Amino acid sequence: MTAAPEPSPHTLALGIETSCDETAASVVRDGREVLSNTIHSQIDLHARYRGVVPEVASRSHTTRILGIVQAALDDAGVTADDLDLIAVTNRPGMVGSLLVGMAAAKTLSLVHDLPLVGVDHVQAHLHAAFMADPSLPMPCLSMVASGGHTALYLMHGPARSERLGRTLDDAAGEALDKAAALLGLSYPGGPSIQAAARSGDPKALDLPRPMLGPTSLDLSFSGLKTALLYQLRGPGATRPMPELSAQQLADCAASFQAAVVDTLIRKLRRAVKLRPEAVALSIGGGVARNELLRARLADDKILSKLEQVFPPLDLCTDNGAMIAGLGTWLWREDGRVDDLSLDARATSRREE
Ligand code: KG4
Ligand code: ZN
Repeated sequence: MTAAPEPSPHTLALGIETSCDETAASVVRDGREVLSNTIHSQIDLHARYRGVVPEVASRSHTTRILGIVQAALDDAGVTADDLDLIAVTNRPGMVGSLLVGMAAAKTLSLVHDLPLVGVDHVQAHLHAAFMADPSLPMPCLSMVASGGHTALYLMHGPARSERLGRTLDDAAGEALDKAAALLGLSYPGGPSIQAAARSGDPKALDLPRPMLGPTSLDLSFSGLKTALLYQLRGPGATRPMPELSAQQLADCAASFQAAVVDTLIRKLRRAVKLRPEAVALSIGGGVARNELLRARLADDKILSKLEQVFPPLDLCTDNGAMIAGLGTWLWREDGRVDDLSLDARATSRREE
């Protein structure tokens, strides 16, 4: 079943993604042309907990995966027999959830005698920029900011990244999700904070921009969340949560969003200073959908000198297309093929 890579002019890949709370599958031609991008989001299931509950997520994946894979094939107008390979997220993520997508991918690979390629989810978020623009110049300063991960990289080519820094605690999206929960806004927090922030004053609250010393490219967002908590409930959070007017809520959302975005922008500017060889800039992950972040990057005096590539919105949040895209690259260019012993891992390889 582990067919040797046979680079062909047209490669049809199925990508399967179940690392968190999206059950997703996609058919991609030649690593770039998205023929289908089918996603079932579990947002409604997790909303009442204001965060993802691993057991709830993996159970939901098991009920959805077969339907989602079939829908991705149908939407693309192909059958499994037309495919050249199966790519699947095998790390990092919630292991119980990863295993559901991997069981489906392994079964399809075995039954249809197709090569299987395990893909790193964070690298796939980086790869979405190449899918948007295959001529993205190198080296490219790239940021992945999502609910589970926030890190800066210098990309030297597709699937060739050097990590420059990463969050030491919460991810940027996680901070937005937690702040939204504190403010009584809906999950996921990024979009609801963005919506509430539109009528708010970003200077209403004085929140920190955690920089971690003069040369660090690491990030930290947990103090920011605590700062919001203390502003609302007093030092040590000893007071009950105050009743907020609609305007106060908007001001809190705008101030928090501005603090997260400002911190990311300052880190990117610092990265350009420390790594002046970067000629391009790309962002990926759910937070890359943020309208303030995109506007600030485009306007920034230093960062706008780099060629900027932002993946389309539906390739920023979790999806199967970026998995198929990177899987195709690894198979065609690196000759990567995994076998049925492919394992699910909670962490990225470089974190082990
Ligand atoms: O990449 P993703 O779908 O899943 C992970 O790999 O974590 O990212 C989800 C994260 C959530 O924390 C969500 O609040 C955030 O992305 N997010 C946003 C926006 N849309 C989603 N954050 C800021 N602004 C948005 N518009
Ligand atoms: Zn993700």
